[in-house]
Amino acid sequence: MKYPLLVAVILGMGSAVLARETAVEIVPPAEGSVSVEDGLDAWSRVYEVTGHPRCANCHTGPSDRPMWSGPTYGETRPHGMNIQAGESRMGIENLQCSTCHTTKDEDWDNANDIPHAAPRVAMGWQLAPVEADWFGRSTEEICAQLRDPDRNGGRTAIDLAEHLNHDLILHWAWSPGGGREPAPYSLQEHINDILAWGVAGMPCPQD
Ligand code: HEC
Ligand code: HEC
Repeated sequence: MKYPLLVAVILGMGSAVLARETAVEIVPPAEGSVSVEDGLDAWSRVYEVTGHPRCANCHTGPSDRPMWSGPTYGETRPHGMNIQAGESRMGIENLQCSTCHTTKDEDWDNANDIPHAAPRVAMGWQLAPVEADWFGRSTEEICAQLRDPDRNGGRTAIDLAEHLNHDLILHWAWSPGGGREPAPYSLQEHINDILAWGVAGMPCPQD
């Protein structure tokens, strides 16, 4: 009689431990195992993520204005309060992003519960580099940028996947809190799609 209870307790402990870890696996498919067609399918999902407000609001290219867009913002508009990121991309020339987007404790899960408060992550909040210009860009434009080593920080698909896993801003984008809509799919699925797209030779719709 006691045995099933013990099993239930062990299983319960196991899932509690799993829930706390955000372990993401970076396992590229075997060379030659992804067709160009499947690579393009993976790309179309990557494009849905990159074009989503939780990503694109910060990836605004040569504009030094972050954007406010997505359901919780109503109309699409530049960040309120005349925020400008400047060449530093952190607002050092004007008003620093970190004045409001303060750094959260890495273990503090409820940091973003309050709707319309400035999002907080466990690293410095800043605008993405000029080259990673995604807001309002087409699938062809973003695809061309992400596979161009001169404009993607010299990264292979595996490097991009590693970057995605280490960037704590991204962990926020998939669980933003405060009623904000998360980026589509999951971090793991997005990483899998980047890896499959890479093994297929980084095909783009315009090829
Ligand atoms: C004066 C305070 C303040 C400063 C300084 C500030 N922000 Fe914000 N930011 C906010 C607030 C508040 C929100 C959330 C508004 C809402 O949800 O209605 C926000 C939201 C954002 C969003 C939207 C996030 C999402 O939901 O997708 C981005 C992107 C952003 N800020 C980027 C920046 C960047 C980059 C800087 C520095 C150049 C910066 N902010 C400086 C207060 C600030
Ligand atoms: C708070 C602003 C912010 C948000 C939101 C954001 N990024 Fe970024 N992104 C950055 C910054 C800053 C860098 C540069 C970091 C570096 O190179 O170490 C970057 C770099 C990148 C890069 C590598 C550089 C390149 O050329 O592509 C990728 C890939 C990326 N982001 C993907 C995403 C995805 C996917 C999302 C949404 C799930 C996202 N980002 C949301 C700020 C942001």
